Amino acid sequence: MPEVQAPKIAAIAEPKRAVPAAGSDVPRHVAIIMDGNGRWAAARGLPRVEGHRRGVEALRKTVRAAGDMGIACLTLFSFSSENWQRPASEVRDLMGLLRRFIRNDLAELHGNNVRVRVIGERVDLDPGIRRLLEEAEDLTRANDGLVLMVAFNYGGRDEIARAVRRIAADVASGALKPEAVTEALIGQHLDAPDLADPDLIIRTSGEQRLSNFLLWQSAYSELVFTPVYWPDFDRVTLEQAVEEYRRRERRFGGLAAKTGS
Ligand code: IPE
Ligand code: IPE
Ligand code: MG
Repeated sequence: MPEVQAPKIAAIAEPKRAVPAAGSDVPRHVAIIMDGNGRWAAARGLPRVEGHRRGVEALRKTVRAAGDMGIACLTLFSFSSENWQRPASEVRDLMGLLRRFIRNDLAELHGNNVRVRVIGERVDLDPGIRRLLEEAEDLTRANDGLVLMVAFNYGGRDEIARAVRRIAADVASGALKPEAVTEALIGQHLDAPDLADPDLIIRTSGEQRLSNFLLWQSAYSELVFTPVYWPDFDRVTLEQAVEEYRRRERRFGGLAAKTGS
């Protein structure tokens, strides 16, 4: 029995490839559901777009803080596959902010050795936005500092469905046997197959749900929910979330380190 279980536990617990090692108790991969822009604005009698604008400021601060803290990868949920259901004017505002963010901040990110990566479905995106995302990835490809993963037009179910569709095509063509479809193989067909699963997922604004974020990768992530609306998030709130993470005991289905022997 143990010889069957051991490799499985190792496959989950062992950080995978491309994320460089960080300080010992700093989470290597932090993912954030940046929520509460609209409520931040409403509380001040401002239009929702003002909340989104201030959200971009919080994003800038958080990227800098994450790099300083030695976090290796920061994944930010910036637009979900369900966010298209919002009024067209809000979707336009959000697209405009993404465009502006890449145009204004790409050079600085590159200068700070940040590597930008993007997960999510790109096929149906506006070609201008697609080009900008590709430009950000291409320019920063060789950087080996913080990995900034932008989840844009991203849905966890959509990502898994796209992976399964590609695997199914290989099975149908005879290139792959059904028995070869393992957890590892599915992982290899996700949008960023080389990146370790998130150690810590933070959601701001008090909501306590994943809203279709990183469904596959979050199997053993620690979840921290903070009431702070995203535009008010900063270095201090990030550090507090990491402190909370440090108090958690990760077991991956095994036994606690102290009681395990
Ligand atoms: C997060 O803030 C930004 C996106 C989802 C794009 P919201 O716009 O969801 O803000 P609330 O949840 O309405 O306050
Ligand atoms: C999740 O927030 C998506 C992003 C932060 C981009 P939402 O505001 O869309 O989530 P729900 O609708 O409250 O679940
Ligand atoms: Mg929201």
